[in-house]
Amino acid sequence: MQWILLFLEWLVDWARGTYWNLFGRRSRLCRGTISPPGPLVLDQNKKNRYLRKEFDQFEVPKNLDVIVIGSGIGGLTAAAVLAKLRKKVLVLEQDKQAGGLCKTFTENGFEFDYGFHYLGQLHENGFLKVALDLITDGQVHFAEQGSHVDTVVIGTGAQYKKYTIYNGKTQMEAHLKKQFPNDTKAVEELFKIMKICSEKIHLLCMLKMFPLWFARFILWSGIADSISPIFKYSRTSTTDVVKSLTSNQDLLTVFSQIFYGVPPKKSSCMIDALFLHHSKRGVYYPKGGASEIPYHIVKVVEKNGGKVLVNAPVSSILVEGKQNACGVTVKTGGKYVEIRAPVTISSAGMFTTFKKLLPPEIQANPEAQNYMNTLKPGKGFFQVFAGFNATMEELGISSTNMRLYKSNNMDEMMDEYFDLDKDVAPDHIPMMYVSFPSAKDPTSCIRFPGQSRMVIHTMVNPKWFEQWNNINETERGEDYEKYKMRFANHLFDWVCVHFPKLKEKLAVLHAVTRVNMPGLEATCGSMPMAEHNLERYQPLNIAMTRCNTPVKNLYLTGQDVFSAGYSGALHGGLLCASTVLDRCLYVDLLLQQKKLKGKVVKKLESSDY
Ligand SMILES: Cc1cc2nc3c(=O)[nH]c(=O)nc-3n(C[C@H](O)[C@H](O)[C@H](O)COP(=O)(O)OP(=O)(O)OC[C@H]3O[C@@H](n4cnc5c(N)ncnc54)[C@H](O)[C@@H]3O)c2cc1C
Ligand SMILES: *[C@@H]1O[C@H](CO)[C@@H](O)[C@H](O)[C@H]1NC(C)=O
Ligand SMILES: *[C@@H]1O[C@H](CO)[C@@H](O)[C@H](O)[C@H]1NC(C)=O
Ligand SMILES: *[C@@H]1O[C@H](CO)[C@@H](O)[C@H](O)[C@H]1NC(C)=O
Repeated sequence: MQWILLFLEWLVDWARGTYWNLFGRRSRLCRGTISPPGPLVLDQNKKNRYLRKEFDQFEVPKNLDVIVIGSGIGGLTAAAVLAKLRKKVLVLEQDKQAGGLCKTFTENGFEFDYGFHYLGQLHENGFLKVALDLITDGQVHFAEQGSHVDTVVIGTGAQYKKYTIYNGKTQMEAHLKKQFPNDTKAVEELFKIMKICSEKIHLLCMLKMFPLWFARFILWSGIADSISPIFKYSRTSTTDVVKSLTSNQDLLTVFSQIFYGVPPKKSSCMIDALFLHHSKRGVYYPKGGASEIPYHIVKVVEKNGGKVLVNAPVSSILVEGKQNACGVTVKTGGKYVEIRAPVTISSAGMFTTFKKLLPPEIQANPEAQNYMNTLKPGKGFFQVFAGFNATMEELGISSTNMRLYKSNNMDEMMDEYFDLDKDVAPDHIPMMYVSFPSAKDPTSCIRFPGQSRMVIHTMVNPKWFEQWNNINETERGEDYEKYKMRFANHLFDWVCVHFPKLKEKLAVLHAVTRVNMPGLEATCGSMPMAEHNLERYQPLNIAMTRCNTPVKNLYLTGQDVFSAGYSGALHGGLLCASTVLDRCLYVDLLLQQKKLKGKVVKKLESSDY
C-alpha cells in the first residue's frame, strides 16, 4: 500500500513542477499585485464609495460570467480570485453595506465590528497571509497584538481560577506546561495534534475536490487513515481526545473553543486544535476596523472589472431545464429584476440557498436532501456592544481576550443551559467571550479620542426567541427589549467583576440577537449558519459538503463549505473558485508562497555579505 502512496505523492510533485515550469511563471493570479500597503484611508465617505455602491439595473455589467450572492469574506474571496482570472463578476449584497460579518456599524457614536475579534497566522509568508494579500493586493494594514492572547477564567465569586495563553512558536506550549505542571505530557500531545492538524488540513480540503467516489474509496478502504491521523482527529470529539490524555477538566476547558456553539463532547478535536493553533504565531487586528478587509477586497474586484452592489437582495435563483442554475432574481423597489450568468455562486449559507432561494422541487430532490443533510443549523449568537467615555488606561483594559466559564464542565454546563426555560435562561448564562476592539486598533485613539469599546459574545437557544420569529430587531417591541437586556445586564455585571472601572464609565450598552430574523440570518451567524458539530467533520461528510451543489452551475462558498472563521470562509472562497475553474488554485498559492520564502532567504543571504 505504502508504495502506491509514495507514487501518488511523487506524481503530484511532478505535476506541480511541470505546471510551474509551463504555466507558473505566467500565472496571472499572483502576478505583480502584492505591493506594500498604501496610506491608510480613514475617511468613511471614501470607503463607502466601494462598500455602499447601490444596486441599479444599469450598473449591472454586460456579458457577466459569474454572479455571487452575498458579500461576506467567502463571497468576496471567490469574486476577487475569479475577477483576477479575467471573469466578469457581479456581487449582489442584500444589506446596505458590503462585508457580511466583516462589516462595522456605529451605535450612538461608537464603532463596532459585527463578527470579528482577531485574525491569526498572518506572519510573513504564512499561507493565510499569502492568500489574504492576493485578494486585497496586500493593502490591509494589520496591527500585531501583544503576545498575551487570551485569559481563561473558570468559576465565579472568590473561587475563580485564571489561566493565560501566550502566543509564540515554542512559548505557547511552554507557558501552558508551566500552568499545568501535572499534565505536561498531555499538553505536549495536544500540541502535537495541533501541528498535525495544521500541516495536514489540505488533505481534508482535497476530499472536497476529488470525485466523490474516489473520496469514498480512500476513506472506506482505510487508505486515508494510513496517510495521516488528521482523519481520526477530525471524527473524534475534543472531550474523548483530551480525556484519553488527562482527567484534568481545566485543561479541557482551556483547549476547547466552544464559542461556535457546541460543547467539547460534540465538537471535532481537529477544529479545536486548529482554532488554538490559529493564534500560535501571533494575532492581528486590521487598523481602521474589520471593514478594512472587505473594503480592500471590493477594490480588487472593481479594479479587475467586477462590481459589488448593495441593497440587492436576491429573492430566487433562476433554474432552467432540469437542474441548471442560470442567474438570479433581485428584488428592488418592489420590482423583480432578472440577471443572468452562466455561473452562480452563493455565500448565503447552505440553508438559505436551498430552502429559500431555490424552487421547492429542487429541495425535495433526494440528491439535494442528501447534500443538505451533511449540515445542521447552528445555535444563535448573542452579542453585547458596550461603549465607554474613557481611555483604555483609565479603564484598565487591554487587547487580551477573555473567556469566562462558570465551571470547568462545559459538556454538562452547555447542555443544561440550552435546556433551560426561556424565563430563567438570562440569569444562568454559563460562558462568555469578551474583547476590547478599541485596545487592538492603534488608530482608535485618533479616530475616537477618549473612547473605548467592548464586545461580549455568547450563545442563546433560538427557541427562547420564538415569539419574535420573522420580526425585525427594531420592531420586536418592549417585551423583547426587556428580555434581551436581562441577558445583556447579566453579562455586563459578570465582566465588571474583572474590570470594575467599566461600570461608571459606561455610555452605551447595545444588545443584539438576530436569531429568527428573515433575510439577516446569514449575515449575523444565527440559525442558518451550519453548526460546528462532530457529524459535520466526519470525513465522509467533509467530502460531501463541497462547492459544487446538486444544481448544475450553482456553487457554494463561505463558512458552510469548510468551517466558520475568516480563515474558514476564505478557504471556502478559494475552494469555490477552484471548483468553478476546475483548476486547483492552491497550487498557484503554494508556488507563490515558495517564491516569497525564497526571496526572504535571498535577502538574508545577501545581508550576510
Ligand atoms: C460574533 C462573531 C465573532 C466572530 N469572530 C471571529 C474572529 O475573531 N475571527 C475569525 O476568524 N472569525 C470570526 N467569526 C467568524 C467569521 O466572522 C465568519 O465565519 C465569516 O466572516 C463568514 O463569512 P461568510 O462569507 O461565509 O458569511 P457572511 O459574512 O455571513 O456573508 C454572507 C453574506 O450574504 C448576504 N446574503 C445572504 N442572503 C442573501 C441574499 N438573498 N441576497 C443577497 N445577499 C445575501 C448576507 O447579507 C451577508 O453579507 C466571528 C463570527 C461571529 C458571529
Ligand atoms: C499536582 O498534583 C499534586 C498531587 O496530586 C497536587 O497536590 C497539586 O495540587 C497538583 N498541581 C496542580 C497545579 O494541579
Ligand atoms: C424590517 O425593517 C425594514 C426597514 O425598516 C423593512 O423594510 C422590512 O420590511 C422589515 N422586515 C420585516 C420582516 O418586518
Ligand atoms: C459620553 O460622551 C458623549 C460625547 O462626548 C456624550 O454625549 C455622552 O453624554 C457621554 N456619556 C456619558 C455617560 O458620560
